[in-house]
Amino acid sequence: MKSYFILDCDKQQKITDSLHGYYVGIIANNTPKKFWTKLTRQQIKDYFSIPNLEIKKWFDNLDLKVRDMSFTVYNDEIQTESHVDDPPVIAKINFPVLNTKDTYNVWFDDKGNEIDRVECIKPIVLRSNILHTVEIGKTAKYPRIQFSFCFYKEPLHLLT
Ligand SMILES: [Fe+2]
Repeated sequence: MKSYFILDCDKQQKITDSLHGYYVGIIANNTPKKFWTKLTRQQIKDYFSIPNLEIKKWFDNLDLKVRDMSFTVYNDEIQTESHVDDPPVIAKINFPVLNTKDTYNVWFDDKGNEIDRVECIKPIVLRSNILHTVEIGKTAKYPRIQFSFCFYKEPLHLLT
């Protein structure tokens, strides 16, 4: 059982720039006050109707249809602790967008022992039904932004 799987993405920078631009537009009138912000159906629809969207082509190639889209913000005021995500989703894709260098997704067993860790510099499939958190290294910068996606047909096979 894997905690994560690193995905190849030859358009990572382009996708990062696009998500970052979208994030800036969303927060313009609405400063995030919590770690997790779930986008509305309309916001998801608006984003995915942008013509020639690289992330759409990438998901299409992976045979993934987006069910939910969220972003997470980590800064001096907003953090997260070890948690298990709400069911029923198990396999999400995290996409790093800003200041994710020297930050880590870390997973724990039931006793709180670390079982896995990965630096958040590439898109990953992430197992969200076991205890996990975000850890910040000494050289990390804020705000740290990642986008998170879940799908109608989960890419669970990548975590076996
Ligand atoms: Fe989580």
